[in-house]
Amino acid sequence: MLSGKSIIGIDDLKKEDIDLIINSADSFIEVLDRKVKKVPTLRGNTVASLFFEPSTRTKNSFEIAAKRLSADLINFSASSSSLKKGESVIDTINTIMGIKVNLFIIRHPEAGACKLISDFTGMPIINAGDGAHEHPTQALLDLYTIKRNFKKIEGLKVAIVGDIINSRVARSNVKLFKKMGIETTLVSPTMLLPENNEYMGLEIKNSISEVIDKVDVLYMLRMQLERQDRKMYPSIEEYNKFLSLNTSRFFCLKKGCIVMHPGPVNRGIEISEELMDLADKNGEVAKKFKIKQQVTNGVAVRMALLYLILS
Ligand code: NCD
Repeated sequence: MLSGKSIIGIDDLKKEDIDLIINSADSFIEVLDRKVKKVPTLRGNTVASLFFEPSTRTKNSFEIAAKRLSADLINFSASSSSLKKGESVIDTINTIMGIKVNLFIIRHPEAGACKLISDFTGMPIINAGDGAHEHPTQALLDLYTIKRNFKKIEGLKVAIVGDIINSRVARSNVKLFKKMGIETTLVSPTMLLPENNEYMGLEIKNSISEVIDKVDVLYMLRMQLERQDRKMYPSIEEYNKFLSLNTSRFFCLKKGCIVMHPGPVNRGIEISEELMDLADKNGEVAKKFKIKQQVTNGVAVRMALLYLILS
């Protein structure tokens, strides 16, 4: 059993909860390789997937996780719902509660939306990303991916590179990595870092070259172009110079280092076109790139969460 019934942020999870989630994901990953990829575990449960913001991988990942556990699924996207007719979020939630669901999966563009809905409904909620606040299931699937690639995670060195200020992924990952004894360095220029002391105590570098041959995990963040109401970085050329992973930098990585990215990759910004193409073809590059493995692991981790909350 998890210590709480909702996962709004990483602070909701104790170390024991995290171990339980990771261990349960191990048993579900095996289901994904079966010919019939379905177990009856959550038969009779109804899960509502509410996405008030566009998403491909997180939405599909949660939905397939629910289906593989045989839960019934209500699928709601803001673009095709009565929100378009002016219905408020709370009215929408109320309507869906009337259908008698057991759990909400919520993505919303506003930070704090999941907490608000959780307080309002008292229902189990999994945060699938709320504004620039948190994305706890991404952090859990990232941790699980790291766990599958290294024998021991304590003491590993991770660099998180890029648009930290706008990144809910960075926020959740930093918290989770800290709990698990992973050492995190942030690589970002001052203009892409928050002005408060949120990340106080972490090592901060301004250029990827400073960490490239030192880390076990290079975690590239997506440039959150949609969250930048003012232009936060002078130019793509400038970004490429200090923050991007390109082919020549790739070959400086430490032996055994893995490259991760939550997706979707802005080709030519975080990672060069050339290297992305090589990752599709070349054995040596592909072996270090774990982006597809993150997607697969995401389904297993989300199955584990649904199972642990609902069963
Ligand atoms: C992340 C998100 O939406 O926050 N993507 C994802 O969930 N796969 C990261 C991102 O979009 O930058």
